[in-house]
Amino acid sequence: MGYALTGAFVIGLAAYAGYRAATPQKYLVTNRHPESNDQIEKVLESLKISDESLQQIMLLLEDEMNAGLSPAMHKNAVVKMFPTYVRSTPDGSEVGQVLALDLGGTNFRVLLINLLGHAQINLTSKIFVIPQSIMLGEGMNLFRHLADCLLDFMKKENLVRTSVRYPLGFTFSFPCKQEGLASARLTSWTKGFTCAGVVNEDVVKMLQRALDEKNINVQCVALVNDTVGTLMACAYKDPHTAIGLILGTGTNACYMEQLNKVGTWDGDHSEPKQVIINMEWGAFGDNNKLNHIRTKYDEEVDLSSLNPGKQIFEKMISGMYMGEIVRLIMLDLMQQDLLFLGHREGYSGYKAPLFSRGGFYTKFVSTVETDEGIGFSNTRRVLEDIGIRNPTYDDCAIVQHISRHVSKRAARLAGAGMAVLINRINRPNVTVGVDGSLYRYHPRFKRNMEKCMHALVNKHIKFKLALSDDGSGKGAALVASVADRTLRRKPLLSEESEHDEPGTPINFHRKFDTPY
Ligand code: BGC
Repeated sequence: MGYALTGAFVIGLAAYAGYRAATPQKYLVTNRHPESNDQIEKVLESLKISDESLQQIMLLLEDEMNAGLSPAMHKNAVVKMFPTYVRSTPDGSEVGQVLALDLGGTNFRVLLINLLGHAQINLTSKIFVIPQSIMLGEGMNLFRHLADCLLDFMKKENLVRTSVRYPLGFTFSFPCKQEGLASARLTSWTKGFTCAGVVNEDVVKMLQRALDEKNINVQCVALVNDTVGTLMACAYKDPHTAIGLILGTGTNACYMEQLNKVGTWDGDHSEPKQVIINMEWGAFGDNNKLNHIRTKYDEEVDLSSLNPGKQIFEKMISGMYMGEIVRLIMLDLMQQDLLFLGHREGYSGYKAPLFSRGGFYTKFVSTVETDEGIGFSNTRRVLEDIGIRNPTYDDCAIVQHISRHVSKRAARLAGAGMAVLINRINRPNVTVGVDGSLYRYHPRFKRNMEKCMHALVNKHIKFKLALSDDGSGKGAALVASVADRTLRRKPLLSEESEHDEPGTPINFHRKFDTPY
């Protein structure tokens, strides 16, 4: 038995070594008809976007941004460019204890943040799940659920004392038209949420109502988008930070804009003459301007989503959709007998994840792309998980090849968007604070994005992508702590009314190095 096993191992090793020697390291689909390779390449060709095409897309995005910022065009603009009422970035000296809620996907976090000054932050946090029934249910129940989770956390942290009213920063990562720092109307749901009765409502008021119903001693003093939180948290450490970028379940960016370019700004024009703009760039393309780069797979992903026709740019980039694009391409190639040969006929497992919408997670794309060389141990495991028993070498190589194309396209589109912002900010050094599971866990996303940015960013500008840990929560806490202090300095009318000032913009200590 021992000899048999050792013998098999030696033969296997020899076969593997021979295979390796005969196989170039780069992608190659072996053992199949050369025409099949051409057919596969033709399908994947539709995902390639040249540098020239990216440059055109950059011009289009810039036009959309200007439309979003123009009072005359804003109403019909797809990239909404919402002013956030955050007018400057922190300088690291902020101190205080603040609570934060971070809602942006199926996970929801409650955080207690201690700002220690000297750019030091301590935090404790707990993750809660948002059940599907709540994501798709009645709006007020969502906020009641958030309040319950917060109360649970506060009890554990011994924060339930009636004499103290804790300030809270709310990271709410959906498109909102802000009317002040603590006042924001949801314009539409994204990322699989469809709670009724929230669109057009002030979500800070809804949250506060839920907190007050339960007598929770907390006052929501600021609402921020996750991009803004990420920018702020990164700026706490790095003064060159001027952009916040999220590449996770959804995608979006924010940046510091000069007030004279923000025609829609209705606040005061005092120093610093700047405001952070939440772009909501996921909606780029919702007016068909990106149709020329969309594939039939993108169209299918869009049509079967909860928000067809919306968030077109997001659907080509973010984690909520990337796995699904790969799955649709795999199915298409399988239909054409170019992939998973032999699995189509006599396939009994049509309930397998490969055949179900959402059955191929974006984390699988990352896993598949982690494989180096021809062993494909991760890819094999993933394919078995989705219902392909004993995948062949070709199956693995092709699935990896598809994944690389889909994720590279996403990285290049995000990179082109970043290049627009960096060129527009036009300072010698620009740091981008980045967060999100796609960026964090995908093995090549950062590299592909940076490479494309180097080709598109004006040569005199140095840029840096900085991963921001827990940025969205920390940033909300930073904004909330400064908002709270600003509000406390106002003449006190009553304990309750001191916070009821939604239009107050926020100013940190640092003014931006002027001019851009
Ligand atoms: C939302 C944005 C958010 C982004 C990243 C998008 O779907 O509309 O507000 O910043 O996802 O979480």
